[in-house]
Amino acid sequence: MSRIFVTGGSGRLGRSVVAGLAEAGHKVISVDRDAIPAEHLPAGAEQYAADLLAPGEAERLIRETAPDAVIHLAAIAVPFSAPEDVIFSTNTRLAFAVVSAATEAGVPKIVTASSPTALGYGSPAGWLPPSFPLDETTPPKPWNAYALSKVIAEQTVQMFASAQGNKIKYAAFRPCYVISPEEWEGALTQQGHTVRERLQDPALSAPALFNYVDARDVADFLDVLLEKMDSIPNGEVFFVGAKDALAAAPLAELFPQFLPGSGPLTARLTGTSPAFSINKARELLGWEPKRSWRTELTPPFEGPDTAADQAAGNTAPSEQAALNDETHAGLVPAGATKETP
Ligand SMILES: NC(=O)c1ccc[n+]([C@@H]2O[C@H](COP(=O)([O-])OP(=O)(O)OC[C@H]3O[C@@H](n4cnc5c(N)ncnc54)[C@H](O)[C@@H]3O)[C@@H](O)[C@H]2O)c1
Repeated sequence: MSRIFVTGGSGRLGRSVVAGLAEAGHKVISVDRDAIPAEHLPAGAEQYAADLLAPGEAERLIRETAPDAVIHLAAIAVPFSAPEDVIFSTNTRLAFAVVSAATEAGVPKIVTASSPTALGYGSPAGWLPPSFPLDETTPPKPWNAYALSKVIAEQTVQMFASAQGNKIKYAAFRPCYVISPEEWEGALTQQGHTVRERLQDPALSAPALFNYVDARDVADFLDVLLEKMDSIPNGEVFFVGAKDALAAAPLAELFPQFLPGSGPLTARLTGTSPAFSINKARELLGWEPKRSWRTELTPPFEGPDTAADQAAGNTAPSEQAALNDETHAGLVPAGATKETP
């Protein structure tokens, strides 16, 4: 059992991380500006309400709670949800404040949340990667303050790793579009649609390149990562996604419709293959996601054309498209959309 300090523990992802790590037998210390409602705070977890940007707060809390590991999730998590300079300064300062405080306190394992958006898909100037599937060798090309702040969060842990050698182990992870347990039941996902609506209408999931991950699988990933961090290279970055795409059709068919010029790159995106490879996490850590929309949706999603699924999604695909403020990846006007992680 470890003592794990989790920032942003009240958030969409944080709640599942706190619950999953507590369930795995760890003592979890959740720190967030907003409290987790007492009835939802799992046994084995304690929480502190604090603004981690207030001078000295991160140092004080980390010293007082003496954790074995820090997982930093706190951030403005939605692109364009605040002015660009506010997102940039909030996220980069939070990452630096928490990672430097943990380093100063000698916490042996420090992990920060990044985002797949670091790669730069959705740029209004157009975007194509060298190849699919995307992986940790795909060059980051952030095009907005949120994505840039995540590249800097990755570089922040790498900078400290360079300075510390292997005395302290660091890592960053890029969770795909997070689906929390209640969202399988019909609660709205981060971009304001249900999971079923995102399956019904591929235009809703295309801006995120059909990526997603169950929040509980992210908690499992973090548990395995912390266990294995001593034996892997320092400062590694991992994609954390589901093993399939959030789409009812193969991405080789969908990408050419939504990502201009991608046709010749999609030969490997057949069947249920996702756009983002999780092979690095599999190979270095032995982690495997357990959940998929195919296992979690009740009743199962039968297909974009069935009346039952249209009824469950409440709106027909054409109406959903009209309600959607996102446009196709590669054709997104700057600042006009809350691009998805
Ligand atoms: N949700 C996704 O799909 C997704 C995808 C990729 C990456 N991420 C990253 O994962 C992390 C968690 O995302 P989320 O969806 O749970 O976000 P969220 O907005 O639901 O939660 C973020 C939490 O951080 C807290 N916070 C923000 N500023 C703070 C401060 N100054 N002091 C203390 N707490 C503060 C907020 O109160 C909030 O509870 C973020 O770093 C996000 O960028 C999320």
